[in-house]
Amino acid sequence: MNKITVSAPGKLMLLGEHAVVYGRPYIVTAVGQRMRAIVELTEKPVFQLNAPDVQVENYQKPMSDLGKDDIPKGAKFVEMAVSQFTSEVGKTGIKVTTASEFSSQFGFGSSSASTVCVIKALSELTNKKLSNKQIFDLSYKTVLDIQGKGSGFDVAAAVYGGTLYFVPPGKMIEPLKIASLPLIVGYSGIKADTVTLVNEVLEKAKKYPKVIDDVYTAIGNLVRQAKKAILKSDWLTLGELMNLNEGYLSILGVEGRKLADMIYSAREAGAYGAKLSGAGIGDCMIAVTPAGKSKAVTKAITQAGGQVIDVKANVEGVRIEK
Ligand code: MEV
Repeated sequence: MNKITVSAPGKLMLLGEHAVVYGRPYIVTAVGQRMRAIVELTEKPVFQLNAPDVQVENYQKPMSDLGKDDIPKGAKFVEMAVSQFTSEVGKTGIKVTTASEFSSQFGFGSSSASTVCVIKALSELTNKKLSNKQIFDLSYKTVLDIQGKGSGFDVAAAVYGGTLYFVPPGKMIEPLKIASLPLIVGYSGIKADTVTLVNEVLEKAKKYPKVIDDVYTAIGNLVRQAKKAILKSDWLTLGELMNLNEGYLSILGVEGRKLADMIYSAREAGAYGAKLSGAGIGDCMIAVTPAGKSKAVTKAITQAGGQVIDVKANVEGVRIEK
């Protein structure tokens, strides 16, 4: 076999943002919008990449130069993932084509999903047949080499799928076995700048260390309780805990007017609970909603200026496609 297609899901954070950076637990769910990668071993020792979603077309470089020189932003994760396999592929070249079912604007974790796809594909093509844990470790290492930091939950969601309770940095990854998750997802149209927001929160923590540390501890506590609620499919409690979590995110200063409008509108229209998902200010909000209220909640989010995205949560992790 010298060609394979692999796909991995995007992710949405359910609870625990920002506190996770300081060691508190976190819950993430894999979403039905998938990243796909076709990976091919080729004769010439050249790396080729086509990733139209991130404006990379016919990018090429000798395999011996992988990881060197300036790498275009859209090619970084795939190139560094491929570079983990240079010794296994010998003199062979590697051609990668990626296609995403979601916009990289949503904050669904497209970089991590494409990293995981490439590592899974090369693990199969080189007959290494890595386990999911090994794919997680290698993908997380790749992401850390590029970003310097990151909690690894988007990598975990792409590898394992489902809904995961996560203690950073990958100390514990516990799948929460549930049949479904009644989420409505609203996109704000604003791009969240994770690095800036994490730094702003850090500044706040330097100024008010005791207050902010108590906030992280409180978020950690509500995440532990949310885990129990999710395992019982107790969506009312999960919704209430999401509302508490949003309150703490507001204290951290990452709520933002637009997301807040969408969140409060969803609650007024009958959601059990709603909060932002991710770093804040932009990207998406999520609402846990009783079946009978989904139309009203969808309408309310739209009226507040959001775009409701049809998202299936709790989906399968990385897989080989036929
Ligand atoms: C961003 O998507 C989530 C944060 O907690 C950052 C991180 O955990 O890497 C804000």
